[in-house]
Amino acid sequence: MSRNKYTIAQIAGDGIGPEVIGEARKVADAAGEIYGFDIKWVEYPFGASHYIKTGEILPGKAVKEMEEMDAILLGAIGDPRVKPGILERGILLTLRFHFDMYTNLRPAKTFPRVPIPVKIPGDKTLDILVVRENTEDLYMGLGASSEKDISYDMSLTRGLYDLSGRLDLKLEPSSPMAVQLGIASEKGIRRITARACKEAASRGLETFTLASKSNAMPQLYGFWEEIAASEAEKHNMKMKTVNVDALCYHLVRNPWEYDVILCPNLFGDIVSDLLAGISGGLGVAAGANCGDRIGMYEPIHGSAPDIAGQEKANPIAAILSASLLLSSIGETSAAKGIEKAVSEYLEFSDEKHLPLEMGGNASTNETGIKIISMMSKLQNI
Ligand code: IPM
Ligand code: MG
Repeated sequence: MSRNKYTIAQIAGDGIGPEVIGEARKVADAAGEIYGFDIKWVEYPFGASHYIKTGEILPGKAVKEMEEMDAILLGAIGDPRVKPGILERGILLTLRFHFDMYTNLRPAKTFPRVPIPVKIPGDKTLDILVVRENTEDLYMGLGASSEKDISYDMSLTRGLYDLSGRLDLKLEPSSPMAVQLGIASEKGIRRITARACKEAASRGLETFTLASKSNAMPQLYGFWEEIAASEAEKHNMKMKTVNVDALCYHLVRNPWEYDVILCPNLFGDIVSDLLAGISGGLGVAAGANCGDRIGMYEPIHGSAPDIAGQEKANPIAAILSASLLLSSIGETSAAKGIEKAVSEYLEFSDEKHLPLEMGGNASTNETGIKIISMMSKLQNI
């Protein structure tokens, strides 16, 4: 039988990105050897250092090349030397929008021996999936700030539509002001709700939760509730709507009562960090950006410039992102193999072999090696 071959774009990015992606890549290659597939990695240098050196953020040529690839593995974007927003919007959000990656899946799961800050009854575990809408809402990039009136011509192209229009705003008496528009389209809500329903069904559920805020923003989130409910009905799924503020309260107090949580973009950003904090920290939190074209897989954590280049970072979130990537391209046994190896490594390792942030003294590289040897061992059992 011929081995499957994949081409994956690697954007290691800033700070600890290169270290953790180095390990994720080694683990994915080792999974390829065990489960019988090959990965060709195409490395791109984009990130702060490249931008400072060359002024280049994300050239169209590279994006065109990625169109032919199977997936993107991303490390972390962000550096104190560059004004916040330039690289985040210029690389991360541009890729999400260009490839119309309308789904952001963020699992929040507890792992053995990873301490968590909430008390969970003995018979419960956390296994929550945030399904975050990834292209609309307040993330559209539509907005302006001005010393006085705002008169602004808008136009943008997204996978689902072209949007154009004009915004004219005036304050009396005049004052400097800013505006950011949140937009939701029926098609946008339907497709992400369908995905949440699919995820819920694959977990054997009949219900999922929608994070909303229609009591304060009825136009945007009232619309969301209405369309999402009608889509859920089509999939024979029940939808429980909870305002996002109350949801955060309940997630801290009784997180085990939640499973699939569908979120508009901004709420999903916030709720997924909250859940990463509750379920074991950013060191183990992985994420998938996906749509109907290629997907991009990334740890939720940032670039952590304070510990960059010191082999101190925990690579597990990046390794689990590689596992999500492999699952999305159809290598599900390899993806499960990696997840199991991480879980067993965390459960059975001697404490000194755990990553630094978990109280051990394993470097980034040693953690990767331990996970690879656990994966091989499990395969040979
Ligand atoms: C995330 C990040 C990004 C987001 C930033 C870096 C633009 O916080 O992936 O959650 O807000 O989506
Ligand atoms: Mg975030």
